[in-house]
Amino acid sequence: MEGRPLPHPFFFFFFFFFILFLSSSAAGPPYSCHPSFTPTRSLPFCRTSLPISARVKDLVSRLTLDEKISQLGNTAPSIPRLGIPSYEWWSESLHGVSQAGKGVTLNTTIKGATSFPQVILTAASFSEDLWYRIGRAIGTEARAVYNAGETTGMTFWAPNINVFRDPRGTPRTGRGARGGGRLQASACCKHFTAYDLDHWKGINRFVFDAKVTAQDMADTFQPPFQRCIQDGRASGIMCAYNRVNGVPSCANYDLLSGTARAKWNFHGYITSDCDAVSIMYENQGYAKTPEDAVAVSLKAGMDVNCGSYLQTHTKSAIYKKKLPESQIDRALHNLFSVRMRLGLFDGDPSKLPFGYIGPNQACSREHLELAHEAARRGFVLLKNDRNRLPLQNSKSSSLAVIGPNANSAWLLLGNYAGPPCTSVTILQALQLYGKDAKYLSGCDTVACSNAAIDEAVALAKEVDDVVLVMGLNQTEEAEDHDRVDLVLPGRQQELISAVARAAKKPIVLVLICGGPVDVRFARDDENIGGIVWAGYPGEAGGYALVQVIFGDHNPEGKLPVTWYPQEFTRVPMTDMRMRPDPSTGYPGRTYRFYRGQTVFEFGYGLHYTKYSYKFTSLTKETFHLNSNTSEAPGSARQKPVSELGVEFCERSKSLVTVEVENQGDMAGRHPVLLFLRRAKPTAGSPVKQLVDFQSVELKAGERVEIEFKLNPCEHFSRANEDGMMVMEEGWHFLVVENEEYPVAVLA
Ligand SMILES: *[C@@H]1O[C@H](CO)[C@@H](O)[C@H](O)[C@H]1NC(C)=O
Ligand SMILES: *[C@@H]1O[C@H](CO)[C@@H](O)[C@H](O)[C@H]1NC(C)=O
Ligand SMILES: *[C@@H]1O[C@H](CO)[C@@H](O)[C@H](O)[C@H]1NC(C)=O
Repeated sequence: MEGRPLPHPFFFFFFFFFILFLSSSAAGPPYSCHPSFTPTRSLPFCRTSLPISARVKDLVSRLTLDEKISQLGNTAPSIPRLGIPSYEWWSESLHGVSQAGKGVTLNTTIKGATSFPQVILTAASFSEDLWYRIGRAIGTEARAVYNAGETTGMTFWAPNINVFRDPRGTPRTGRGARGGGRLQASACCKHFTAYDLDHWKGINRFVFDAKVTAQDMADTFQPPFQRCIQDGRASGIMCAYNRVNGVPSCANYDLLSGTARAKWNFHGYITSDCDAVSIMYENQGYAKTPEDAVAVSLKAGMDVNCGSYLQTHTKSAIYKKKLPESQIDRALHNLFSVRMRLGLFDGDPSKLPFGYIGPNQACSREHLELAHEAARRGFVLLKNDRNRLPLQNSKSSSLAVIGPNANSAWLLLGNYAGPPCTSVTILQALQLYGKDAKYLSGCDTVACSNAAIDEAVALAKEVDDVVLVMGLNQTEEAEDHDRVDLVLPGRQQELISAVARAAKKPIVLVLICGGPVDVRFARDDENIGGIVWAGYPGEAGGYALVQVIFGDHNPEGKLPVTWYPQEFTRVPMTDMRMRPDPSTGYPGRTYRFYRGQTVFEFGYGLHYTKYSYKFTSLTKETFHLNSNTSEAPGSARQKPVSELGVEFCERSKSLVTVEVENQGDMAGRHPVLLFLRRAKPTAGSPVKQLVDFQSVELKAGERVEIEFKLNPCEHFSRANEDGMMVMEEGWHFLVVENEEYPVAVLA
């Protein structure tokens, strides 16, 4: 999600306590504290009546130094004398349980898991409820996979909540998380922090040193993590590869122990990204020896390393007196606490609260329908001249589909995917829908260095309707590969324009891509009637797209990121500053700060009907910061939120009512986005910021009032240069689409 994080967390994994077990599986997973394993049966760490901290303390006290060190890598071996099976910390579930990590196998009883849309598309639905249900489904499938013995770990390294700061980055960004108490599955907020450069013009994430101001840290990069931990109650954090102001995140005591644990009250485990410890010595030159890298990470508060570096070098770090054994115990305490919270030391898992979740829960009909719903709700209608869309589904009208992205099912999943339950291309979805289409790839590949333009033009002339399915794929935008261009690859644009010129009627362009593309040429071409951004819509995305094209579903999505023009690429991706710098022409980043031209704005999205909005009431229209102000010369008067006090913040909460009307003739649902705009933004204050959002479903002609809760201390504030949240004097406007409502903040 771009810029300021969403005001509410997206709930992810959650847990039930009181569900009775119904079944037990024959070939279940291995587990600790097996009732027939006599050496441990009566030991305190197996006693479920004791608090977890006491059980872990007992367990760690029984381990030899070698056993302890063995547990510090993502693949933690078994400890046979204590009946403890091996454990794999690394599993992935960014948008569905996936084989991308090392824990999940999905090759015996369960062969696939529901592949939900890539998270940037789900972000476009601006629906907390949808995120919650997807998170719950993934959590259930994760347990099903565990119960079926198809994973040796229940710690999933998702969600990825990095700020989508630059359009060239690979959009894996998405959701908050929830855990705490007993865990059905463990979620992990990654990658902590200020991480989004993968590999750009020779600079990679392993060596990149992000220079981040205290101000941007406070109101851009840290809030998603704070939310993920405090509101989402995630039980894991992954520290990132990159350095922030010189210090690698996994070696940063202030970040891991000071901020996450002490300030945010985080109680889970902290893993490194894979090999993020070795690079401190090998690539960054931050540590003088491997032992120094190991010592500085553990002392900073990291608990487990993805990779084997700690397993290899921790012992010599201890012998060389760079690291006290107590640091290992500290880490093990966090690690075994999470394994115990997952119920992996409580005896036969099939007899435990989540033991009832059987293999039929993976790829269940309900989850596939949810994947379908999520895809449908994310698509963003970017252009619809003279209501070109939806297409009429009449028998007499002929259709051509052109484009390499119409004929790949794997492409629709995006990265960190699968295996999915089903595989359907867009073309196959059309057939399922009962629509015949003539197909031409048009480009040799997505990169489109060769285009069959003449052939495509000839086909376009033959038919009534043309849908072009273009965009990117994971060769163009991927982990470890940032784009250097924002335009469509190769000859795609040329092909699209030629087909548009030749077609009988304005054509429809579907863009399959995660990051934004500069399609001003298409936006401004009157021969192109409709444009749909489809993200990477997941395994049910093909059918969902066809339904939107033929009008069975009214598009709802709103762009979750700014679409910048190609000229934005002159900004070095390495420049982390969010705020603009007019003296050098640096334009700033995201809808909060960037004021240059856009292709499409954050929050933009059309529908097959017209909605209107009207502010009807606000319980408080003026906020008095009334006491002394800390006045900075030349800027509006501002006051730190911490000085305003809790009482002021409580007192200033207010309700905003907005009337929404469906003025068209098609029912639909869409998210209403409430922004705050400053009348005169001072240097350092955002032009606007998202305050809240709410989905509303309206029949044709229907009108409802919706209410937003305004919390000025949170919603009107921004960070000052010292990283302190402040409220500023001056006129502000609440904004919904083109409607504005003034609010005064007085000092
Ligand atoms: C499933 O995958 C695991 C891990 O790669 C492997 O050890 C196991 O043999 C595989 N099982 C089958 C039935 O292919
Ligand atoms: C993406 O398209 C390229 C050609 O442009 C192709 O070689 C590659 O295999 C595709 N990548 C994926 C991950 O499908
Ligand atoms: C403002 O601050 C000054 C000095 O810091 C203090 O003497 C004065 O009482 C304050 N006024 C109010 C209204 O708090």
